[in-house]
Amino acid sequence: MAAPTPVVADLRSDTLTRPTPAMRAAMVDAEVGDDVYGEDPTVARLEARVAELLGHEAALFMPTGSMANQVGLRLHAGPGQEVVTDSLAHVLRAELGAAAAFSGITTRSWVADRGLLDVDTALSVMVPDGGAYQVSTACVVVENTHNFGGGTVQPLADMRRLREATAEVGVGVHLDGARLWNAHVATGTPLSDYGACADTVSVCLSKGLGAPVGSVLAADAERIQQARVWRKRLGGGMRQVGILAAAGLHALEHHVERLAEDHARTRRAAEALAQAAPGTVQPGTVETNILVLDVGAAGWTGPGLVAAAGEAGVLGYPTGPRHARYVWHLDVDDPTTDAAVDVLAGLLRRGPA
Ligand SMILES: Cc1ncc(COP(=O)(O)O)c(C=O)c1O
Repeated sequence: MAAPTPVVADLRSDTLTRPTPAMRAAMVDAEVGDDVYGEDPTVARLEARVAELLGHEAALFMPTGSMANQVGLRLHAGPGQEVVTDSLAHVLRAELGAAAAFSGITTRSWVADRGLLDVDTALSVMVPDGGAYQVSTACVVVENTHNFGGGTVQPLADMRRLREATAEVGVGVHLDGARLWNAHVATGTPLSDYGACADTVSVCLSKGLGAPVGSVLAADAERIQQARVWRKRLGGGMRQVGILAAAGLHALEHHVERLAEDHARTRRAAEALAQAAPGTVQPGTVETNILVLDVGAAGWTGPGLVAAAGEAGVLGYPTGPRHARYVWHLDVDDPTTDAAVDVLAGLLRRGPA
């Protein structure tokens, strides 16, 4: 039997990072208590820190970003109401219909280039009070940065405009900020400026920040009280979970500013691949750590290119029939980036066999 191909670069996702030795040490030393009783001091510290960073009153530690998003949506909308967002949003595309399955929430969407927030379309799609004839829109979701859009940063001015216009008609805003840290580092925008553009904000500690698990939902104190009930109802009440919150606190302290390194490597890869295969990517649009290649421009299908690169040890993810995604993170350095670019550039230049 042939030996498996050694992995040159695992760029499938920024969730693949492993905790560093310093993070593991912080976890070992964490002070813990039963968090369902509200008695875990490390969780309390993490929640207070994230609430402060995002400029919200309170926050709640969650096992996953999906749960943080779905509890967030549940705070805005109930059965028979709707949530609207772009068609590539994680809450629609990758949370397995959770809003419908758990909360009876329906959704509508629009196509948005690179997942970029389109305020006018969002406002025109919304039905703030549908009365007895139309489904009422309870919430608009903004994803920043946008995962399947290619790490797209949402312009703060647009987020503010959406926030003001929706507030006037009583529609809420949920910010899926799984990678809000990346937007903050890429633009220098304070996290609290983004936080001010939404009623509920979810952030992930287990993506580029390198924690093994954990997300946080931030909102006002009353909503977070309700979120505590929904988290428990969904089976997300955790006990001596300070051991995980400690990893999150360590990540916030040590792994946010370094995201700039991931962004620089991603941009460098984009520039090299745009040269090797013009039309597959516009490097100027690569703002953070996610590179979505239009491999169709080089004659490939997304799954075809991902499979061929995988055989050469460079792992990615096909995001569509003609698109492939490569994500930079804590465990990818410069030599690994160069090796991955060599493989991808060679395949894109050559085209499918
Ligand atoms: C934008 C976005 N939101 C939410 C999530 C969900 O996070 P989790 O995998 O922790 O449920 C992800 C996961 O990759 C994501 O990319």
